[in-house]
Amino acid sequence: MKKLATLLICTLTLGSQLSPASTFTIDAGHAAGKVSPLFCGLMTEEINHSYDGGLYAELIQNRAFLDNSTTPVHWSVVANNGAEASIVLDASSPLNDKLTTSLRLRVTKAAKENPAGVANSGYWGIPVQPKTTYRATILAGVESNFPGPVTVSIVSEDGRTVYASGKFTGLTTGWKKFEVTLKTGKVVPTTKARFQITLDQPGMIWLGMVSLFPPTWNNQPNGFRKDLMQMLVDLNPKFLRFPGGNYVEGDTVETRFDWKKTIGPIEERHGHQCPWGYRSTDGLGLLEFLEWCEDMKAEPVLAVYAGYSLKGAHVNPGPELAPYVQDALDEIEYVTGDANTSWGAERAKDGHPAPFKLNNVEIGNEDWFDKSKSYDGRFAQFCDAIKARYPQLKVISTIGNDQPETSHVHSRQPDMTDEHYYRSVDEFVRMSPGYARQYDRTGPEIFVGEWAAYETSFPPWDRRSQHEPPTPNLKAALGDAVFMAAMERNSDLIRMQCYAPLFVNVNAGARQWRPDLIGYDAISAYGSPSYYAIRMFSRNLGDEILSTVSSQTAVQGSATRDSKTGEIFLKLVNLQATAEPLQIEIKGVTSVASKADAAVLAGNLEDSNSITQPRKVVPVTTTVRGVKPVFTYTLPPNSIVVLKLKARS
Ligand code: AHR
Repeated sequence: MKKLATLLICTLTLGSQLSPASTFTIDAGHAAGKVSPLFCGLMTEEINHSYDGGLYAELIQNRAFLDNSTTPVHWSVVANNGAEASIVLDASSPLNDKLTTSLRLRVTKAAKENPAGVANSGYWGIPVQPKTTYRATILAGVESNFPGPVTVSIVSEDGRTVYASGKFTGLTTGWKKFEVTLKTGKVVPTTKARFQITLDQPGMIWLGMVSLFPPTWNNQPNGFRKDLMQMLVDLNPKFLRFPGGNYVEGDTVETRFDWKKTIGPIEERHGHQCPWGYRSTDGLGLLEFLEWCEDMKAEPVLAVYAGYSLKGAHVNPGPELAPYVQDALDEIEYVTGDANTSWGAERAKDGHPAPFKLNNVEIGNEDWFDKSKSYDGRFAQFCDAIKARYPQLKVISTIGNDQPETSHVHSRQPDMTDEHYYRSVDEFVRMSPGYARQYDRTGPEIFVGEWAAYETSFPPWDRRSQHEPPTPNLKAALGDAVFMAAMERNSDLIRMQCYAPLFVNVNAGARQWRPDLIGYDAISAYGSPSYYAIRMFSRNLGDEILSTVSSQTAVQGSATRDSKTGEIFLKLVNLQATAEPLQIEIKGVTSVASKADAAVLAGNLEDSNSITQPRKVVPVTTTVRGVKPVFTYTLPPNSIVVLKLKARS
């Protein structure tokens, strides 16, 4: 009897070892492919106030008075306690032929203790930080005989508290540039502030452009917000796809991203209407995009305007398209030419003598929307001209495997095609196990130039999605993670991939699209759970793809290895509301260190981050013990896990 019991126990133990409930097997005996070195990157465009009111650190909204042709929006009169002033747009006294309107300020009654003038409300407030130096630049002129001074200050919304202030004198009848440094003391951080220009005596002055910058990333004068740049650098991106997206196309040919109008001094950039319903200053222009890449040690993926705009206008291939092709060639020369080339010289004049590295050029954006079916011809014309002059460049078609074969470019073989996936979490979960497996490995390489999972009932372009939070919750991050794992398993073919959109200003009225990766207001920023999922993937990549097989489990995942150190990065996604004990088998290794780091992003599906709760869902790193070539790891419910396994082959 005792013998039988022992036998039964042995059989049960053996049985559970032979047929484990769920298994994830990694073949580490040989690499199944090479991970593309450019695999993880970023996509950006002006949407949701990504630049103006976002990454571009300018604090004055409507700095050149062009946002509205009849009213000086975001500007208001300052006149208290009997002081009197008025403001009006004045198109008859422009600063130059680019900034075609100025603001006339007439102060009719004011005194030292009772100044009057004009205030700007900023991009949903002016961020006031303690012990911080701000740089105000004011292009101004005067009718005659105004001795000054002019006071420049950052004050509370009610004007009663002065956070920082400075003065300038020397106004003349011609336009002159004035720079004023404003320093705050020990203040409590706030966005409930405005920027003011006031006079303490009657007078009339014209303002041509008013700019205010806080400290910027790398102290660039026309630079970027530090907190947002740090968040991007932390993602370890290898490329930046810019300037769109819809932003490269514009609603019309006239409102395309016309790169030549976005370079040179900021007071000579007219700006333009962006397709997302507001005006762009073009303060973040072509050179700033390139410097942004440089700051992140990422390379540009340059999208050129290709003769199709969102409201349906297209430029016919042939002579009509030739000027746009020339513009693209000039643009590539601006990026890559040395200072002896004409556009390289222009870039040097703009302050950047060294050429930038460029390997990939994308011809347009989402050209499957072009009902005239002119893309094949337009692509061919751009491709031929670019290849003739820059044979080393890869040329990307905007129509990829997510679109019907009949719409693809057939007259040329694109080096790469761009696929866009905005899908519900359920759809990503369904499509990810087989994604890209069937693709022709001898065809064009793949760029997944925009992707994101949405977790609400509405796709991002449905206006009803505007009522949902701007950034996605943990459920969406799980959907993103299964799709990232699928792309990673195919990262020999998928050369580049990037989430979109990157940024959202969370203030009401500032956004047009959700979900977005990083949210912010004027003073603080946070990453969505998807941001942290992407960070976990992009910082643990390696250079070799390892084959994986999962059995009896809904867990999806991917494994890669660093060929120099042998470290294996195992990514696992548990989409279930219950913990999943998973048997992990690493084949083809002689040993594995018994301790491994596990980064875990987990929680309730609806958990999310926000301005007020920026770190509710963040990865937690723990040490896993008892790691062996075959071991069991229990994934928490609703979790994304990256296991770093130190293996020897
Ligand atoms: O990412 C938002 C928009 O989605 C992009 O501008 C466009 O390319 C796509 O339709």
